[in-house]
Amino acid sequence: MDDNLLDSYGLFSKAIHWITAFIILALLAVGLYMGSLESSPQKILIYNLHKSFGLLVLALVFVRVVWHLIHKKPKSLPTHKKWEVWLSHSIHGFLYILLFALPISGWVMSSAGDYNVKLFFVNMPDIVSKNEGLYETAEEVHEILAWVIIALVGLHVLGALKHYFVDKDKTLERMTWARISIVPAILLFGFVALIYGFIAFQSLSEELEIEHEHKDHSAFEQNDQNYAQEDLNNMNLEVFGVTKWNIDKKKSAITFKATQYGQKFEGNFDFRGQIFFDPEILDKSKAIIDIDMKSIKTGSIDRDNQARSKDWFDVATYPKAIFETDGFIKVDVEGNYLAKGRLTLRGVTLPVDLPFNLKIKERQGGKISAVMKSEIELSRLSFGIGQGQWSDEGAIGDKVAVDLFVVASNN
Ligand code: HEM
Ligand code: HEM
Repeated sequence: MDDNLLDSYGLFSKAIHWITAFIILALLAVGLYMGSLESSPQKILIYNLHKSFGLLVLALVFVRVVWHLIHKKPKSLPTHKKWEVWLSHSIHGFLYILLFALPISGWVMSSAGDYNVKLFFVNMPDIVSKNEGLYETAEEVHEILAWVIIALVGLHVLGALKHYFVDKDKTLERMTWARISIVPAILLFGFVALIYGFIAFQSLSEELEIEHEHKDHSAFEQNDQNYAQEDLNNMNLEVFGVTKWNIDKKKSAITFKATQYGQKFEGNFDFRGQIFFDPEILDKSKAIIDIDMKSIKTGSIDRDNQARSKDWFDVATYPKAIFETDGFIKVDVEGNYLAKGRLTLRGVTLPVDLPFNLKIKERQGGKISAVMKSEIELSRLSFGIGQGQWSDEGAIGDKVAVDLFVVASNN
């Protein structure tokens, strides 16, 4: 069966063309607008809708390509000049490429930034693994492709309107349902022009936003240096007669896993610490871990900045989180212990029991090294992390799994 009648596009082709066109225009406007929104659960919702409709475009273009492979398109009108046919076909070809490339670049960006991707209610898999460099590249590619499709759709619409107003042929009519009158055509053109104006305005305000973000970021880099230069001695812990462990910072890590709209994302912090620990002298053993809250890295600069903001870790006021032990309990002979202590996070101090496993190995030359692993679940809301509208667990879950992995040696 051939749905595309000889001199007109078929019902299915028309429907898919106009549904896609409408979604694309909305995605462009929303895409350029959503970046300038203040971070909030509503912003996450808008991003999720952007991704869902973007993936719908990807699904529709697949269907459309398959449909056109099976069903013939109507031929060019005899009044169409050669260059017009060549130009319109080239633009159609590039539009098809962009209809694939835009959603795929968006999907790559989200996966590489460890952000969730949903097709409405269904969680979609990551198409690449977490990679900060790739996230930034895909973000740029996505933005450039969006500007390219704006230019191409502009030419495409100008062409359609030229055929309607200047050539007065049936080009536009055979992609619509009836000979459309001049009034809706002008309304349509006005609508498109309005969206273009809106996009230009929003994009300008976003440029200003980006500049602002860059400034924020360099302030954090400055602070990082100060943190590194700070004298470790201000953690004036000294316990005599108990082995002192030096943390190997390169091999050690504090990582966490949280959920955003039901999907996990990961991050890590820089930390330092002083550990005096001897399995035989547990009553005198003591440790302090000092976590640099502004060092948070989750794979996306935007999310890191959000985590540092006032509603979240508020690193300007609370630059550090401190875990300090009050005592240790031996759990079994397999190297399992419990560190009873206090965690101070975002200005709130709460008792925290940290179960951990310790493997101590004696190396050549009397050097002893130790590997400590600990997994714990914390409630972010108990520490006031995520103020106001962020206290709703629907957007970001309350439970955060924290992994502590410390490699240390006694000299
Ligand atoms: C906004 C996104 C749009 C996209 C991605 C798009 C894409 C396309 C593509 C790929 C075709 C080739 C036919 C096909 O393969 O189905 C086409 C045809 C057509 N489009 Fe669009 N279009 C868009 C918007 C518009 C708008 C706003 C108008 C009208 C003002 C329009 C008018 C037409 C017409 C008249 C044809 C038929 C051209 C011919 O017969 O050679 N399109 N469009
Ligand atoms: C044809 C479909 C799509 C169009 C036309 C589109 C358009 C846009 C536009 C215009 C922007 C703003 C670019 C900027 O100024 O940085 C944007 C941003 C974004 N898009 Fe899309 N998009 C589409 C599909 C997708 C898909 C499928 C995803 C993810 C699965 C996605 C994820 C994103 C994200 C996360 C941003 C924000 C980037 C940032 O924060 O800088 N997009 N999109």
